[in-house]
Parts: sequence; structure tokens; C-alpha cells
Amino acid sequence: MNVLTTITELCEVVKTAKYNRQSIGLVPTMGYLHEGHLTLAANARSENELVIMSIFVNPTQFGPNEDFESYPRDLPRDTELAKSVGVDYIFAPSVEEMYPHDGGITIRAGRQAHILCGATRPGHFDGVLQVVAKLFNLVQPDRAYFGQKDAQQVAIIQTMVRDYNFPVTIRVVPVIREEDGLAKSSRNIYLSAEERSQAPAIQQGLQLAKRELLESGSVESAISLAKKIIHDNTDGHVDYLMILTYPDLQEVDDQTDQIVVAAAVHIGETRLIDNLIFSLK
Ligand code: PAJ
Repeated sequence: MNVLTTITELCEVVKTAKYNRQSIGLVPTMGYLHEGHLTLAANARSENELVIMSIFVNPTQFGPNEDFESYPRDLPRDTELAKSVGVDYIFAPSVEEMYPHDGGITIRAGRQAHILCGATRPGHFDGVLQVVAKLFNLVQPDRAYFGQKDAQQVAIIQTMVRDYNFPVTIRVVPVIREEDGLAKSSRNIYLSAEERSQAPAIQQGLQLAKRELLESGSVESAISLAKKIIHDNTDGHVDYLMILTYPDLQEVDDQTDQIVVAAAVHIGETRLIDNLIFSLK
């Protein structure tokens, strides 16, 4: 397996694959791979002739006080892991390679970005769309793989693909979890042993909210029960815990079918997100 660091090298690989009529699967990541990323790659492997994984900690999606500098990075380890699930190429460019110019043109996410993570991370989804649009243009994938772990992210990317006619099929992979229910995340390594033992309460809270919503139909009581579980079992603070329609991320009403129960919780210094998506009908 090859690691490509320049756009020129990547374009050569893509050109050859297109000439040979090979289907291309793209797995965009920021690296420090875990089983969640590897499941995306395994799905890509089973559905495409060529699999390209990008590993790029994208500065434009981090806020000024966020963890861009300290975000975990380990390309040699990632290369081995990617190889083990059959990735053909890693594209790991430098920041200068990805962003050599600033022409002042930006992509602005729409109203789906105003709530949940978007409310406390202004500009975050604009940065995600910027890098994803560039990757789509460079790799020209038939299919691109994203995790439901970042449910808002994938909903916004699907809107961009639909509204701007990107010729790519988005595949969504369910949340991959630890045995105790904690969603796998590159940021889990920040947790102390005590914080790690508290973190599964997030998932327990979301499950309880789902059960309460299906039984009583009350969004308010589902939210307050879930918050109570998280408050009672962690020292964390709930950034948000919301129940919305999916993928539009609007208030739930009588017509609603698909639901997302989503939370972001700060446990110590670490911000963890998780969600459940299910049907009300
Ligand atoms: P990153 O956080 O590295 O995640 C890369 C992909 O892996 C995303 O689609 C994410 O939803 C998925 N993923 C992460 N943890 C998962 C889990 N436990 N189960 C299933 N899928 C999981 O998301 C990003 O990077 C960036 O925003 C990116 C899209 C690469 C743009 O920079």
C-alpha cells in the first residue's frame, strides 16, 4: 500500500483508475484510526475496486480554542491498520498542500448547521464541507463512506451532495462501539481511567430517551430522563441533548418519521458526541 502526500501523485492514481474503469471508494478521516474508521474502510473494500483513505487533520474545521494542535496523529500506525483492511492508497497531504491559496471563497453549510454541534462550533461544518468538497473533486469517488457517529456531519454532507450535484453515492456506516456502549472515537484516549468508566452513561442516557419517547411520546420527559442519567453517573457537563427530525434536524411534530437523539457531553477536558437514529412509525 502506498502513502501519497501530493495532489499530483493522487491525480495520477485517480487518472489511471478512471482509464481502467475501476470504481473508487473514498474514506475521509483525520487519522488515529480505530475500529470505526476501519469498518468504513472494510465496507469500501467490499464495494469498490480501488479504495483511497484520506488522513488529514483539517485545520479549517477546528475553532481557535479547539484541539487542532494536540489532535492525536500517528501515520505509521495508521498505515499498518489501513493496510490490514485492504486500503489501496492513503492520501496524507500537508496543510500547505491542501490549502496553498486563499481566494476568499468559502462553502457555507445551511440551517442544519445552526444547532447541535454547530451551535457551539461556529464555522466547523463550513470547514468540513470545504475539505470534503476538495476530496470529492480530487478523488472523484463512486462512493464515499461516512459514519453515523457524526450524524449531523453526514446529514450536511448529503445536503451538499444533493444541492450541488456531486456525482458520488454517500454510504453511511452505523456507530461502532466499545463493549460497554461508548462510541469509538480518536478522542477517547484523552479520557482518564475514571472518566472512561463514566463515559458509557452517555449511550445509556440516549437509550433511555429513545425508550421514553417511544413509550410516552414526550420529547421533554425523554430529554430530562437522559440528562438525569448523565448527570447522576458522570462529573461531565451536557453541552446539548436534543431530539430532532433526521436528517433535516428540525423540531419533532406529528408527521415526523425518522428521529435523532443526539448529545455532546464534556467529560473532563474531552468533548464526546453520540446519537441514536430510529423511526417513530
Ligand atoms: P474523523 O473524526 O477521523 O472520522 C472519520 C469518519 O469516521 C467519519 O465519517 C466518522 O463519522 C467516522 N467514525 C468515527 N468514529 C466512528 C464510530 N465509532 N463508528 C462509525 N464511524 C465512525 O469526521 C471526520 O474525521 C472529519 O470531519 C472528516 C469527515 C474526515 C473531514 O475532515
